[in-house]
Amino acid sequence: EMIDKIPEKRTSSCGALDESCIGKEAVLAGWVNRRRDHGGLIFIDLRDREGLTQVVFNPETSAQVHAAAHHIKNEYVVKVKGTVRRRPEGTENTELKTGMIEILADKLEILNVSKPVPFQIGDDIEVAEDIRLKYRYLDLRRPIMYKSLLARHKIYMATRNYMNEHSFLEVETPMLTKSTPEGSRDYLVPSRVNPGKFYALPQSPQLYKQILMVAGVEKYFQIVKCFRDEDLRADRQPEFTQIDVEMSFIDREDIYGITEGLIARIFAEAAGIKLNLPFPRLAYFEAMDKYGSDKPDLRFDMKMTDLRGALTGTAFNVFKRILEGGGSIKALRLAGQELSRSELDKITAMATELGASGLVWMRVTDKGVISPVSKFLSAEEISAVVSSCGAVIGDTLFIVADRWAEACRVLGSLRLYLGEKYGLIRKDEYNFLWVTDFPLLEYDEKEKRYAACHHPFTSPLDEDLGYFESDPGKIRAKAYDIVLNGNEIGGGSIRIHRREVQMKMFTALNMSEEEAKDKFGFLMDAFEYGAPPHGGIALGLDRIAMLIAKRKSIRDVIAFPKNQSAVCPLSNAPYFVSGDQLKELSIKLDLPDKD
Ligand code: AMO
Ligand code: AMP
Repeated sequence: EMIDKIPEKRTSSCGALDESCIGKEAVLAGWVNRRRDHGGLIFIDLRDREGLTQVVFNPETSAQVHAAAHHIKNEYVVKVKGTVRRRPEGTENTELKTGMIEILADKLEILNVSKPVPFQIGDDIEVAEDIRLKYRYLDLRRPIMYKSLLARHKIYMATRNYMNEHSFLEVETPMLTKSTPEGSRDYLVPSRVNPGKFYALPQSPQLYKQILMVAGVEKYFQIVKCFRDEDLRADRQPEFTQIDVEMSFIDREDIYGITEGLIARIFAEAAGIKLNLPFPRLAYFEAMDKYGSDKPDLRFDMKMTDLRGALTGTAFNVFKRILEGGGSIKALRLAGQELSRSELDKITAMATELGASGLVWMRVTDKGVISPVSKFLSAEEISAVVSSCGAVIGDTLFIVADRWAEACRVLGSLRLYLGEKYGLIRKDEYNFLWVTDFPLLEYDEKEKRYAACHHPFTSPLDEDLGYFESDPGKIRAKAYDIVLNGNEIGGGSIRIHRREVQMKMFTALNMSEEEAKDKFGFLMDAFEYGAPPHGGIALGLDRIAMLIAKRKSIRDVIAFPKNQSAVCPLSNAPYFVSGDQLKELSIKLDLPDKD
């Protein structure tokens, strides 16, 4: 059957026409979101990336076009030409920008057909994520996904404009490189021309950006892919994107200032949100001590209270032992919530699962304090606990006794659970903060040695240099993270640029000079030719995009992500390669036996 050709180009997107266009001719193209037959009339919602427009086929306008419209199915690609008219009274759709009008079609061209789609193209679908990823080209047709891509694009643009205005130079660094010292597992790439040798995909451009400082670039940035072979979570991908920054002749304040300005610009341009600057700061120790996390969510208050003062000298064995052993007793106060016995048991079980040896709850009621341990504590101790926590009738307290770090960590997790469960989190807030003064080193109990918390080029605080000899665990670093709503969205440090400090650091890490040279040789060599004082930061672009787009997973703001098993269901990567390919690379497989 004859179908029209429509030679004209599109006159508008499917999201643009409104009442001001009534009476005009329009040519639209897009995908058929839905077709409905109503008596003699056929309606289609035509969709492109900008929106939906209703198109009507009336046999009285053109019997031939109306007949052709009968063949249209969902996701066919069509072009229509017609007249914009007001929708009849009572059929307007106020949810749509184009909801006051429709196109009365007099021509139709079917540009392509489509198989029936495995899921509806709409925002509120319930489809397994692997199916969405397998048919990502259909998934990305959904308006919410297009919005994610658009938000990301705006982040790139805002970043490039802002960094350019501040004289930063975008420099690309290699993807085929030697492994960088970020501490996760590397992705390796075999070299055909150098049998037995491997490139590593960069975990970050850390060494290269420092070398660019030695090279005199002074202000560098890059929007860059990083690769880490680590366990995946909602906020982690094996390949992800950083906004990577490095500057010379600066101190921490310069980094904070540039970063805050960049983030404010990103939020203004990608989300239309004006942020208040500067962001508050919290030292790492205080973040752990008060909120039990190095990335505290400050959209709700709920600080922990230290109960050492209230419980010093207690006869209750569990608490006594911990206090005498130098541990801590920490408490959380949940205000004005009557918890059922089963909820209290559940929270106790959660604490144990998190690794606590126990948890004590106390309910402050008008009949006094109710707690499984009230018989073990004196009346004075109980009232000291209640008043230290500032608790009043109706409140519930949760107490954990352990080593300081453990008690903080366990209650920090419970704090997040309680905040979510009892609706304490101000969900519409964007709450930023800097966490500063991270420890330089952490003791690895298994390996019996210190490891760098950030990386081995992180500068210690000047006032802590003396601890290298006496107590390396006490050294604080010029390292900082930026946190948004409980997510780590960036981190960086001022680097060591002087050799004698670097040598102290390697000594503390129990790393010989040879080992250091082998691992980071090219940076060590470069440092001998006049390294300027420098420092930098890297922002997690995917996480920022996720928070701006209000999505729960960074997979929803990445066009083609990997699933939780590091597989791409669209391309089926990773995949087998041929024996010839392996042979060329001098590689023999030694696969584990299947069980
Ligand atoms: P860091 O390792 O803290 O620092 O990484 C910086 C930021 O990158 C994001 N990020 C991730 N996002 C998604 N998936 C992942 N697997 C992932 N890993 C990290 C986080 C994090 O805050 N070279 C240093 C920076 C520097 O010192 O300048 C670095 O890479 O948001
Ligand atoms: P037990 O003597 O082990 O029966 O513990 C007595 C009470 O103290 C129980 O309610 C335990 O949950 C609690 N408890 C045990 N260990 C700890 C701890 N480390 N911190 C807080 N409470 C604890």
